[in-house]
Amino acid sequence: MYILGIETSCDETSAAVLKNGRVLSNVIFSQIKTHRVYGGVVPEIAAREHMSKLPLVVEEAIDKAGITFKVLDGVAVTYAPGLAGGLIVGLSYAKALSIALKIKLIGVNHIEAHLLSPFIEFRDISFPYLGLVISGGHTNVYAANAFGDYELIGSTRDDAAGEAFDKAAKMLGLPYPGGPAISKAAMTGDSSKIIFPQAQMKDKSHDFSFSGIKTAVLYYIQRNKAAIDKGDVTVNDIAAAFQKSIVRSISNKMRRIYEEYKIKSIAISGGVAANAHLKGELERFARDNNMRFYVPSMKLCTDNGAMIAYTGWQYLKNGVSSSMDLEIQPELPALNSK
Ligand code: KG4
Ligand code: ZN
Repeated sequence: MYILGIETSCDETSAAVLKNGRVLSNVIFSQIKTHRVYGGVVPEIAAREHMSKLPLVVEEAIDKAGITFKVLDGVAVTYAPGLAGGLIVGLSYAKALSIALKIKLIGVNHIEAHLLSPFIEFRDISFPYLGLVISGGHTNVYAANAFGDYELIGSTRDDAAGEAFDKAAKMLGLPYPGGPAISKAAMTGDSSKIIFPQAQMKDKSHDFSFSGIKTAVLYYIQRNKAAIDKGDVTVNDIAAAFQKSIVRSISNKMRRIYEEYKIKSIAISGGVAANAHLKGELERFARDNNMRFYVPSMKLCTDNGAMIAYTGWQYLKNGVSSSMDLEIQPELPALNSK
């Protein structure tokens, strides 16, 4: 079965072709350079860029896969959640293709695609697993019990982890996107010079909260201007302390979730899963507890068409596809639990 996957929910225009779940091509056009001057993604500009780039990206994905449009069995497309303009461009394109080629349309939830993305590279992963989807828009932990059966264990009460990285980077004068910039700066910083608070929920829930850490960075910068100007504390030191605090919060939370759920596999996905420090901490935690640990390669962690095609393939195999009245759902906060 040949599936074309289309992703346009944020600032990556991507298309991929999968044959029976195996990636034949995965083309990603990143709009980061366009948005960098604004310090973040500008939704209307993103939509316009998707509009002009998507047809080219799809053609390249078809060419690289060494196939023609005619062999496609279905087109899978992100319909939720994300920026409305981008979602409309992707869904309209997919509908047109589905009509023109007389192939199935499969609407895919972007979060489910991130959650299932480890299956693309790891043939030994199996249900159940603890799935941490951690990106610029989401921070959700699921007990993934089976395909289509995901229990939401916890999510963020305020900023997503990637959003916190992006905002902290802005405060520190680092470029967008903040995650890669902070992790690079942190490599030569001394994380022990400052101790930022860890997010603790007052109740017993497994939810996350990152806005406190972000505010602590803001206050630190405001109150320690002299020391920063003198070079006693550098931007790299602050970046390292911030990253440490975020990573600690996440790994402590995962530890508590594991103690309650006792699920022996953990998979992380989404843009922040590309963070080397986070990967290291969670890998150590998994090893200490004899858990299996899965993290996709960088290209499959950040937004990509392959994960959309893979998820669409799972649906189509199970006889599920979408109708032409499928609408975008920009605000969908999390996957529905069963
Ligand atoms: O999954 P993704 O590409 O898009 C969304 O669905 O949001 O994730 C993008 C987010 C951005 O906030 C970016 O700063 C963050 O992932 N990110 C990172 C790293 N690489 C990307 N955060 C921390 N460390 C990284 N190395
Ligand atoms: Zn994403």
